Amino acid sequence: MLKVDPVNDTTAVTLPRILTRNPLRGKSFLSIDAFSGEELQLILAAAKRLKGRRKTLQTGGDEYRAALNGKHIALLFQKPSLRTRVTFQVAIEELGGTAIYLGPQEVDMGVRESVPDVARNLERWVDAIVARVFRHDDLLTLAQYGSIPVINALSDGEHPCQALADFLTLYDKHGSVQGLKLAYVGDGNNVAVSLMLMAAKLGVGMSVAMPEGYRPKPEVQKRLDDLFRIAGVPFTVSDDPQRAVEGADAVYTDTWVSMGEEDEAAKKRPAFTGYQVTPELMARANPGALFMHCLPAHRGEEVTDSVMDSPHSVVFDQAENRLHVQKAVLLLALQSLGPITS
Ligand code: CP
Ligand code: NVA
Repeated sequence: MLKVDPVNDTTAVTLPRILTRNPLRGKSFLSIDAFSGEELQLILAAAKRLKGRRKTLQTGGDEYRAALNGKHIALLFQKPSLRTRVTFQVAIEELGGTAIYLGPQEVDMGVRESVPDVARNLERWVDAIVARVFRHDDLLTLAQYGSIPVINALSDGEHPCQALADFLTLYDKHGSVQGLKLAYVGDGNNVAVSLMLMAAKLGVGMSVAMPEGYRPKPEVQKRLDDLFRIAGVPFTVSDDPQRAVEGADAVYTDTWVSMGEEDEAAKKRPAFTGYQVTPELMARANPGALFMHCLPAHRGEEVTDSVMDSPHSVVFDQAENRLHVQKAVLLLALQSLGPITS
């Protein structure tokens, strides 16, 4: 990682400087693991700068208001969405581009038309694809067969834009993420994988409680073990939520039944007995520990109302930050040799 924290060093690490060292230019954003800690910090730094310019981006008095002028971006969604769909559309419009939403019924990717052919069509018309898919492999295929950047808006494997927003929230609340301990309690799903990868890349220790059988695939667990070891920060996985939250500065959970897993719900739910984030569980974390959730929350299942609505809950800050991090991803991925100079 960089010696100076580029997220907080707003004097030296300006938006134009970030654009000269752009780690995402012309690239897809499919997995946190495709980027180094330094590169992820630069994306977060860009997001923080753009967050600070929100008012002028909204009112038009900002040169980045035209950053995506003339650019069209397809929002290809195989699953429902509130946050991801709205924040991508607003982000694109505030940077001057145009969003084209293609909902689950419209393209029927892989059924009405093959995934490679969808990519071969879209690349002729649009400048990037933001895709929410069932199969992570379909994102890889879109990126392979199209010549334009593909941005992962959630797959069965990862939710990298969510992890960026989560870490921007931790920066916002704590000033720095160095020395923090993050606990995750729940399903070893897409959100958890991106969160753990991001923590490992940024050198943030994690303690995770997941039932046996609902942990990431062995190859992903091995990769995480390696990354945390290289980072030199603690990483533990157990089936003990009480132990996982001890000493944590933030406690994160997500739904026990993800989109596409509805048929498994009856079998899956009993495995999560004892995994609900309650005030009693939060009391075992550090005083003032944040509660985090990607949303949508299933109140009364993975989290109680009282935790969701407590003063330490930052779930809507995370949701807000989706806008800023995705604006950064779009700006960086689609940066042209245009007129942005200051
Ligand atoms: N957190 C998140 O991705 O929410 P949506 O499913 O509503 O987009
Ligand atoms: N794990 C959840 C996240 C939703 C944003 C899902 O995939 O449905």
